[in-house]
Amino acid sequence: MKATVFHNKDDIRIEDVPQPHAGAGEAVIRVTLTTICGTDLHILRGEYPVKPGLVIGHEPVGVIEELGPGVTGYTLGDRVLVGAITPCGQCRACLSGHLSQCGHGAGYEAIGGWRFGNTINGAQAEYLLVPNAQANLAKIPDELTDEQVVLLADIASTGFGGAESGNIRIGDSVVVFAQGPIGLCATAGAKLMGATLVIGVDGDDNRLEISKRMGADVVLDYRKDDVISEVQKLTSGGADVAIEALGTQETFESALRCLRPAGTLSSLGVYSGKLQIPYDAFAAGLGDHRLVTTLCPGGKERMRRLMEVVRSGRVDFTPLLTHTFPLDKIVEAYQLFGSRADGVLKVVIKP
Ligand SMILES: NC(=O)c1ccc[n+]([C@@H]2O[C@H](COP(=O)([O-])OP(=O)(O)OC[C@H]3O[C@@H](n4cnc5c(N)ncnc54)[C@H](O)[C@@H]3O)[C@@H](O)[C@H]2O)c1
Ligand SMILES: [Zn+2]
Ligand SMILES: [Zn+2]
Repeated sequence: MKATVFHNKDDIRIEDVPQPHAGAGEAVIRVTLTTICGTDLHILRGEYPVKPGLVIGHEPVGVIEELGPGVTGYTLGDRVLVGAITPCGQCRACLSGHLSQCGHGAGYEAIGGWRFGNTINGAQAEYLLVPNAQANLAKIPDELTDEQVVLLADIASTGFGGAESGNIRIGDSVVVFAQGPIGLCATAGAKLMGATLVIGVDGDDNRLEISKRMGADVVLDYRKDDVISEVQKLTSGGADVAIEALGTQETFESALRCLRPAGTLSSLGVYSGKLQIPYDAFAAGLGDHRLVTTLCPGGKERMRRLMEVVRSGRVDFTPLLTHTFPLDKIVEAYQLFGSRADGVLKVVIKP
C-alpha cells in the first residue's frame, strides 16, 4: 500500500509499505479521508521526534476492511471515524478517566494515548491498523459525510477540549491565542459552552475573518493591536479563561498576562524547548491561577458526541477544509499547509 513515511527532518516520502492485517482486538480500515495536523509539521521540522520509517498522520476516516478476533458489533464495510488518540479503555489511566494518558503497561504514560503516527503507523496511508478497536471505532451516521467528520478526530476534539478544560461558565469572557484550525475550534467550543465574550487573536486577515464566523465576538491582530491591554479593557481587568493554541513562549505568556486573578489558562499548543513563567504575570505563584493542559480527547464515545454536535447543526467545520490533494501529492500538501499560503486552513487528503 502507499503510505507517507517519515525519514528525517524535512524528509517525508510517499512509499510502498506492507499492508497491515488485524490481530486480536484490532481492526484494519481502508482510509477514505485524512488530513495534516499542525503537529505533523512539528514532526516534519524535527521539533517533535518520531522514529524514521514511521507512517505518520493521525486523523482517519475510513471503511472497515478487517476485524480481528474479539471485536464485536461491527461489520466489514462500516464507515468509521477513529480519534487521533486511541485509548485502550482498560488501563489505570483510562479507567480513571484520563484516556489520553493511557498507559502502554499497567499505569499512566504521558501522551500514551497518542499512538497513530507517533508510536505506531499512522493514517496518511491507504490502510490503517486500529489498535484497541472495540474502544475506538466510531460508526459514522449515514447522513454525515466524511468531510463533515474528518476534523473531529483531532482538531475539533482538541479545540473543544481546550474550552472544556478551561471550565468555561455561562457569561465568561474568553481570549483564544492563535486562530489556526485548533484555535478556531477552541473559539467555537468557548461559544458553545456559554462564553458571552470570545476574543480571537491572530495575525492573519483571513483567519481573523473566519474567527468571527466560528464564534468570536471581537478579533485582535497581534501585528497591530496591543493585545494584552485591549483584552484587559474589554474584560474589565482580565479574561476568565485564556486559551493558548500555538505553543510558543510569546503566546503562553500573553495568555497569562490577559488572565484575571484566579482565571484559568488552558494550554493546547505543542511546545519545544523551555517554557518560562514570568513571576509578575503569575503573581509570584499566589494569584490562584489555574494552568491546565489538554491532549486531544479520543475514543469512540468522544467521537460519537462530536458527531452529534455536527449532526445537530450546532457547528459546521467544513469551511475549514480549504484544499484537497490525492495521497500521491501529500508532500506538496505539507508544503502548502506549512507555508499557510493561498488561504489554507486544512488540507484534505484522499487516499
Ligand atoms: N493539544 C493537542 O492535543 C494538540 C492537537 C493538535 C495540534 N496541537 C498543536 O496546536 C497548535 C496549533 O495547531 P494549528 O494546526 O492550529 O496551527 P497553525 O500553525 O495552523 O496555526 C497557528 C496560527 O497561529 C498564528 N500566530 C502566529 N503567531 C501568533 C501570535 N504571536 N499570536 C497569535 N497568533 C499567532 C498564525 O497566524 C496561525 O494562524 C500546534 O502547536 C499543534 O501542534 C495540539
Ligand atoms: Zn494532531
Ligand atoms: Zn488505557
